[in-house]
Amino acid sequence: MIRKLPAVVAVAVLTAGVTLAFAHPNFSSGPLPGFTGAPVINGLPEEGTCVACHVGKSPLLNLPGGRVQILDLPESFNPGLTYRMRVRLESDSTQQFATRRWGFELTAVNLTTGDGAGTFTVRPDSIWVRDADPFDPWPTRQYVVHDSDGYFEGETGPVEWSFDWTAPPTSIGPVGFYVAGNAANGDGSNGEHDFIYTSADSMQDSTTAVRPSSWGAIKANYRR
Ligand code: HEC
Repeated sequence: MIRKLPAVVAVAVLTAGVTLAFAHPNFSSGPLPGFTGAPVINGLPEEGTCVACHVGKSPLLNLPGGRVQILDLPESFNPGLTYRMRVRLESDSTQQFATRRWGFELTAVNLTTGDGAGTFTVRPDSIWVRDADPFDPWPTRQYVVHDSDGYFEGETGPVEWSFDWTAPPTSIGPVGFYVAGNAANGDGSNGEHDFIYTSADSMQDSTTAVRPSSWGAIKANYRR
């Protein structure tokens, strides 16, 4: 559509978009960092979820009939290697809205220190990687989030986003992955009829010696 506009108008439109992206939490740029619902880890506070701003029906979080999943995580990772993973989001609650929009945010946390773990790489067409704000309690965490090209506008779902996670080059112990997804009605607001789901998964560090039995116990703590 922009291609049909005179260049000067297109530039004005793009500039306006960029300005709004900074002025507004979600416009085109996806959610602010720090809303995956990650629990308290090593004394660092838990993260909120999208329900801090988005309201659906009660219960606000994880209403039956929908879910978000982290897919393709192997049991353990090797330092320095890259793993492709998917986030899948589905919900019955927004089927009544033709304008459905879907969004998510995911982070990876070192379960020993609470710091961010590894690095994410995305193909920047519908999702991007944003760092935590320096003044957040978890300034080293990285977040993969949708942008306005990643809404899967109007689709009935399940929808899926895929991206890569590269493990740190040295041993760090187990890593937790936390995701929050928003099945929204696409009304361009954070009001009624946006449905928020959370889940978590984890991977063991293959170089960290943990007996399988105790690893099972650790992993159970971080599965929700
Ligand atoms: C600080 C408040 C705030 C938080 C936290 C927040 N959002 Fe939003 N979100 C908004 C506002 C305001 C809008 C509407 C305007 C816009 O798009 O910027 C919105 C819009 C959206 C939309 C489009 C909704 C529609 O019906 O058109 C999606 C999808 C979305 N957010 C996803 C998320 C996800 C996923 C999270 C959590 C990881 C999240 N948001 C957390 C404020 C927030």
